[in-house]
Amino acid sequence: MPQNMLTRYTPTDFSQLKGLRGISDQQIEAHLKLYDGYVSNTNKLNERIAELFDQGKGGTREFAELRRNAGFEYNGMILHEYYFGNLTPHGRGAPMDRGEIGMAVSDSFGGWDAWKEDFQLVGEIRGVGWAILYQDPITGRLSNHWVTLHQDGHPAGFKPILVMDVWEHAFMLDYSPAERSKYIEAFFGNIDWDAVERRLVSSAAVRPAAA
Ligand SMILES: [Fe+2]
Repeated sequence: MPQNMLTRYTPTDFSQLKGLRGISDQQIEAHLKLYDGYVSNTNKLNERIAELFDQGKGGTREFAELRRNAGFEYNGMILHEYYFGNLTPHGRGAPMDRGEIGMAVSDSFGGWDAWKEDFQLVGEIRGVGWAILYQDPITGRLSNHWVTLHQDGHPAGFKPILVMDVWEHAFMLDYSPAERSKYIEAFFGNIDWDAVERRLVSSAAVRPAAA
């Protein structure tokens, strides 16, 4: 079987995420259990694909369906790691106006307020999915995008910089479905901007954007 099918993923420890403001410990705990499920399902998916491969059943409908489902399970695992990884109980509540992330947002959006308004609007789009701030690693430019479920809408090759889960399971213990905007405001207050900044591609590695 292909060697990568033997990879076993283990859940990242996010137990430090207690005491967020506006997102309860109970909500985070329930959400982390769901994340564990994606890690487990990704491992099961790979195990079954490997079995079918070894049995010479690569041409079956089951094999094809599992391969199609990989985008959902893998992104369900990975996006939650980005999401929990850009939260902190020590959030400063307001984005930095200096530093590399500040300059990158300012260059791409014209300022924090324009970025935040756009990110919030993307996050309020009806349906289940994610609002994600990406960086184009070629030009360094940042842009906000909506991702449906876990897999539809990712701009190919772009790097997630800030990831916000807006599936209802992300806030349903704290807010009603109609209160998604309150959850988004709470999310802004708990962003770990240092973690976000570390995800940026170094400015030395990107090609200057066309004027
Ligand atoms: Fe989630």
